[in-house]
Amino acid sequence: MAKIGVFFGSSTSQTEYVAYDIRDMIDAQLGPDTVTIHNVGSSDLHEMLDYTDLILGIPTWDIGQLQVDWDIKWDELESLDLTGHKVAVFGMGDQYGYPDTYLDAAGMLAETVLALGGELVGYTPVDESYQFGHSLFTDGDSFMGLALDEDHQPKLTKERLDAWVEQVLTAFGLNEAATSTVHE
Ligand SMILES: Cc1cc2nc3c(=O)[nH]c(=O)nc-3n(C[C@H](O)[C@H](O)[C@H](O)COP(=O)(O)O)c2cc1C
Repeated sequence: MAKIGVFFGSSTSQTEYVAYDIRDMIDAQLGPDTVTIHNVGSSDLHEMLDYTDLILGIPTWDIGQLQVDWDIKWDELESLDLTGHKVAVFGMGDQYGYPDTYLDAAGMLAETVLALGGELVGYTPVDESYQFGHSLFTDGDSFMGLALDEDHQPKLTKERLDAWVEQVLTAFGLNEAATSTVHE
């Protein structure tokens, strides 16, 4: 059984590409088949319960709404008990086109994970590289996960992902680089 489950929904493939990048980055570090990818549109979300460690990817659509596959499966999601699961969320959106609803769906997902008893990991700072008015994905000065914008900041995605994947693996207790440093 793979150690980490990545679940994504995606309407125009941008979240899907990032999900596969995350899979490739983690598998390169921890070995093939560490990650199993699930497209929410064709998955039973009860499969989330098979993994202690989860990474969830969601874009915001239609001005502050859930991506359609996540929307269809939302009742199923809300039926889960995520107690004992560590969950990292990444959101995809367009902060210039939709500055007052930037990543709102990711915020709804993060809040739901917490309501279901999950431990949310992978918070990141809202630094000066972001420019938006309002987002449900923020909690004080932090995003409740990783905030991406492939529409307007695609060149920032790789460095944001590199740092976040290391942070999330450490939170999962799976970061071999960090572990070996501690033992030196
Ligand atoms: C009609 C429309 C509405 C959108 N609404 C939002 C929004 O409210 N907030 C946001 O952050 N991004 C919004 N976006 C941007 C998408 O979230 C972004 O393009 C995302 O990368 C799409 O991911 P996907 O290809 O995985 O579906 C919208 C895009 C379109 C075309």
